[in-house]
Amino acid sequence: MNNDWYLDEDFWATFGSLMFNEETFAQGNDQALALLDLMDSQPDHILDLGSGPGRHALPLAAQGYPVTAVDTSAELLRELEQRRGQLPIEIVQADMREFVREQAFDLVVVMWTSFGYFADEADHARVLDNIRASLKPGGRLVLDLVGLEYLCRNLQPVHLTEYDDGRILVERPELTDELTRLDNDWYLIEGDQVHRTRFSHRVWSAGEIRALLANAGFTPISLYGGYDGDDYDFDSERLIVVAGEGG
Ligand SMILES: C[S@@+](CC[C@H](N)C(=O)[O-])C[C@H]1O[C@@H](n2cnc3c(N)ncnc32)[C@H](O)[C@@H]1O
Repeated sequence: MNNDWYLDEDFWATFGSLMFNEETFAQGNDQALALLDLMDSQPDHILDLGSGPGRHALPLAAQGYPVTAVDTSAELLRELEQRRGQLPIEIVQADMREFVREQAFDLVVVMWTSFGYFADEADHARVLDNIRASLKPGGRLVLDLVGLEYLCRNLQPVHLTEYDDGRILVERPELTDELTRLDNDWYLIEGDQVHRTRFSHRVWSAGEIRALLANAGFTPISLYGGYDGDDYDFDSERLIVVAGEGG
């Protein structure tokens, strides 16, 4: 398995169209608006880390909030640039392990499991340190994750999706490393062609992610089971973390 899969432009070029399409952009729009409601927030400046082509940066900017969108993928950022129009979005190509802008943002969002990719645990702590340093006093971080509790109860060893355009995706996910990582084995069937990729990311239980954030100095920390602020439980498809900068 390639440990740096998340930096591989071929991965996003081949599998990106499954993730970024008009349907998922519409979902991103709803999620962004729900999050603003959940936090009752009027942020001055938002940082979207691992923004991709802007599923959340675009609707947040359309609400009038200046957004800085940071991502490593030149291709995905090009798509954001094309969609941006006159919206107040600053586009930065950078790695979240390196990107820091001292006390510049009052809201940082890391959406759709974009936190947790690194093989080295220290890199996750480093990203949290960067985020805390980039938050203004009293600012907040939102992490949109999949929780270990949901995976333990609901993960199917094989899952098949058939798309309207005829493509078929076969996923073979597996919890590994004492249930701390999700290894994925994907086969995308396109006519006679099969593209295969294997990639892995960290998964946390609710208690583990709370402890990780507390160790990084974040407080207060709230956990939700959805963008609307539902309670988190075994059947929550998302684990939404809202964490204060902690003073
Ligand atoms: C699953 S996509 C999610 C994109 C976006 N947050 C959304 O919800 O649509 C993960 C994104 O993280 C970006 N990414 C991966 N590793 C990164 C890193 N080390 N620093 C910054 N961005 C990264 C990828 O290029 C990709 O755009």
